[in-house]
This record gives sequence, structure tokens and C-alpha cells, in this order.
Amino acid sequence: MAAMKISRRSLFRGAAAMGALSLGTNSAAPAFSRQPETAMALASDERFWAQIAKDFDISPDIINLENGYWGLMARPVLEDYIVHTRAVNRNNSFYARREYNKDAAAVLTRTAAALGADEGEIAITRGATEALQALIGGYDKLKPGDAVMYADLDYYSMKSAMDWTAKRHGCDVVRLEIPQPVSYDQLIEFYTEALAANPRVRLLLLTHISHRTGLMIPVKAITKAARAMGVDVIVDAAHSFGQVDIKIEDLGADFIGFNLHKWIGAPIGTGAMYIRKTRLEDIAPNLASDSSEKHRLSGRIHTGTSNFAAILTLPAAFDYHERIGRQNKQARLRYLRNLWVEAVSDLEMLEILTPNDERLHGGITSFRLRGKTSVDDNKAIAERLVQEFGIFTTHRDGVAKGACVRVTPAIYNSADDCHRLAMALRKITT
Ligand SMILES: Cc1ncc(COP(=O)(O)O)c(C=O)c1O
Repeated sequence: MAAMKISRRSLFRGAAAMGALSLGTNSAAPAFSRQPETAMALASDERFWAQIAKDFDISPDIINLENGYWGLMARPVLEDYIVHTRAVNRNNSFYARREYNKDAAAVLTRTAAALGADEGEIAITRGATEALQALIGGYDKLKPGDAVMYADLDYYSMKSAMDWTAKRHGCDVVRLEIPQPVSYDQLIEFYTEALAANPRVRLLLLTHISHRTGLMIPVKAITKAARAMGVDVIVDAAHSFGQVDIKIEDLGADFIGFNLHKWIGAPIGTGAMYIRKTRLEDIAPNLASDSSEKHRLSGRIHTGTSNFAAILTLPAAFDYHERIGRQNKQARLRYLRNLWVEAVSDLEMLEILTPNDERLHGGITSFRLRGKTSVDDNKAIAERLVQEFGIFTTHRDGVAKGACVRVTPAIYNSADDCHRLAMALRKITT
């Protein structure tokens, strides 16, 4: 059957060609040094970032400062995804059954390298939710009478998962409220004291960058302190990888859930789970995995039929991310955050919910008007920003001190976008 003689090269020739283009002439992104000093200087170079912005299909209808839901794919990544989608659709199970596993293994190698982990420590997931559900639900060391701990800023479904796990094992739940304002040292002290005051706690959930306020907590130091007290930590790093320049060693934890469709700009439906090699047996195998996978990390996640094309596009997303430079991206996002925050710093009525200490934030920062703490108050402010100023943000709830409005710039946003936000906030508050 001549028609069925499809070579591996012809199956993905298109994708490879696109991949090559995405690294070369098709992309506006020039390669830049990753030196921090260069990154700082580059952060304010509007001409450079305007070139980068050309790689994104940006809606002209709104200034989008709500890039925390998921990240726009840069055009070279999107094109790679389209090529993979077409190829997977065309070749169907003939590809999936005969070739996909080999390609998926290469993607896993690349993902592990990007995260600074061994291959056997990473699994590809559909997002942070799938990774963290597997970790929290599978954590196998709790005994009746133990307790688990989380804080107000953690993600709602991870808190529910912690409640579920606690109930299943007959454990109590300790719920914390992170102080605000707070400093780097105070955060470490706060968690250390909370653990000391609750010696039955054996499992702690930490969210590296809060989706509510943008607060970035010193996960490595807190994890170290927790470990010294015999407490395991699961880290929700949904917002970290790609927003700030981190690898596994910077978090120091044994169990971590990541997203790749937020700040890496991969297709929606991609994430990763990390389990330190020495800790695999402390996460129970997935209920749908067979016994041959008992001692393998792949047995901790059971996705079923995957979005093959999304996974195959991960290398293009890493290429694009690394071509811009991890440090450059981090510095630009912090710069955009600082632009609007500094421009409104004289407004007494405005509370800015991340400290200026750059160890405590990336690009995300929320605000609220003093005294306006209800969800409705903050929905109304976000709506006013859309209606009167054409600026899209989003309200966030669940913060113990009250709701807020979250501002999340992306690398395609301009300094002008942030100045417009600052001017809008000035008008709203005066
Ligand atoms: C802090 C945090 N954790 C977990 C998640 C879940 O990520 P996903 O829905 O992509 O699985 C999100 C999503 O916004 C998040 O912000």
C-alpha cells in the first residue's frame, strides 16, 4: 500500500520547518545575552519589546493586562502547533501508535532540562491542576491525628484538594492568613512560627506566586525550615516557571506542580509534575495506573488520550522562551509592574498588595481602593477600567483582608499600557 508508506520525516517535516523558522527569520525576537545587568538595561528598551510584540497576535480592542489566565502563544509557537495539529489529525493512530512515544520521550527530556530535573522526576500533565491533584491526592504519609496546612492566598481548588486529603486520612486542617503588608523575613518567620505552633502538621501547601495578589513567597527557605520540622511541602508553581527565572533547585521542594500554558506560552493543556527521585514512593500510584508502573513516576499521572499536538509543541515554546531569555523576560515583567506601581505610589487611597522588594513579586501585582474589600466593589473597579479606559484586568477574591483587582502584564505589553493604567487609577481615585 504505497499510500500508507509515510515516513517519520514526512509526518513532521512541516513542523520541523516551522520550528526552524520560529528560531530564525520568522520571529521578531533576536537572541540576547542572559546576563542580569543586560536584562535590567533591556527591560526598559521599548524598541526591543515592540519588536517582540510583533510576534503576538494582539487584540486591538482592549489593553489586556489580564495575562494570568493563560499566556498568548507567540506566532512561531502557534504556527508550530497548527502544523502538529494538522499532522496528528491527518495521520491519526498510525502516528500515535507507532511514533508518538518516541517523540513524547524527546519532549520529556527537553522539559526536564528546562526545569533542571532528571527525566525520571518529571511527567507532562494537562496543567498545574492535574499535577497538584496527583500530588496532594496521592500523598501517602498522613496518619489519623496529623494535620495539613495552607493559607488564604493558595489556589481555591488546591485548598479543596488539601481538605479532601485531610478528611480521607482523618487529619485536621490548619488555615493561615498571610499578613499584609509583609516582608521577606516576616514571611519565613510567619510560616516557621505557624509550623512550630502546630506540631501535628505534616504536610504544607505553598503557592510560589499567588494568583490572587502576585505575592511571591520564599519557598526555598520555608521548605527548608519545614523539612527541619519533619513537614513535607507541596509547591504550587503554576505562576512561576516563565514569569520568573526559576528551576527546581530554586524552590528546593520534593513535590511541585507547574503550568506550561501560562508563562511559557505553550498551547493550553500543558503542564508538568515534579517528584524528587528519592520521594517517589511517598506519592501513591494513580488509581488508573497498572502495577508495572508502581515504581515509575509515569504511574502517578494517568491522563488517557492526550492532546498530542500540544505536547509536541512544547519544544517550540521553550525555544521561543529561551530565545528571549529567562532573565530578560523576568526583568521586563518586573519593569512593567514597577512602572504602574511607582506611578500611583502617591495615591493614599490605593493599596498595592505586593511589596516593592523584588524577591516578593514577578510581573503580577494586585491593588484595591482602601476600604473597598468586597468582591462587588472590585468587580465594579475592573469593569470601570474596561468601560471608561479600555483596560482589561480581573477582580480576585479569597484574600483574607478583602478582594482586589489583579494586574498581569505580559511581555507584549508596552510601557504605554502601564502608564494608561496608572492614569486611569489616578482618575478613579481623585
Ligand atoms: C496558583 C494557581 N494554581 C493552580 C492553577 C491551576 O492551573 P490550571 O488551571 O492551568 O491547571 C492556577 C490557575 O490559574 C493558579 O493560578
